Amino acid sequence: MQWKRATFVTGLVLCAAAPATAQDVARGQALADQCQACHTLTADEEPGPGPTLAGIAGAKAGTRPNFDYSDAFQAANARGVIWTDAALNRFLADPQGEVPRNKMAFPAITNDADRADIVAYLKTLR
Ligand code: HEC
Repeated sequence: MQWKRATFVTGLVLCAAAPATAQDVARGQALADQCQACHTLTADEEPGPGPTLAGIAGAKAGTRPNFDYSDAFQAANARGVIWTDAALNRFLADPQGEVPRNKMAFPAITNDADRADIVAYLKTLR
């Protein structure tokens, strides 16, 4: 029954690579309400206690305008951290693990689906 296993594995791979749906993005937007205690989400607002998240997806760490990043984020920038989907996911899962000693006082988001939906939403911010 080799073919059955191959079909199953192919299905899993397709599923993992499935693009975010509008529903995922809407869920991510609702979850990202909690980020707005510190982050603005549009490029034309002044940043708050955290940098703007506009354009964050695909950007180099520590490059949002008008924000005085900590040494931790300047080091992340210097070592070339890029906010890919995977890096954003790791950062939200463990902010201090991904960027040690950074000043984002926010706990880990432990739910995989929550993180994936937040990242799907972040990718819509320009
Ligand atoms: C209590 C305030 C606070 C909250 C809430 C918060 N953050 Fe942050 N965040 C910060 C600060 C401050 C920094 C910059 C830290 C530094 O310079 O060390 C940061 C940095 C970041 C960065 C890196 C930015 C860059 O330019 O490289 C991302 C991505 C990020 N936060 C995403 C989020 C998301 C998504 C949420 C919600 C799930 C969130 N944050 C909630 C304060 C916060």
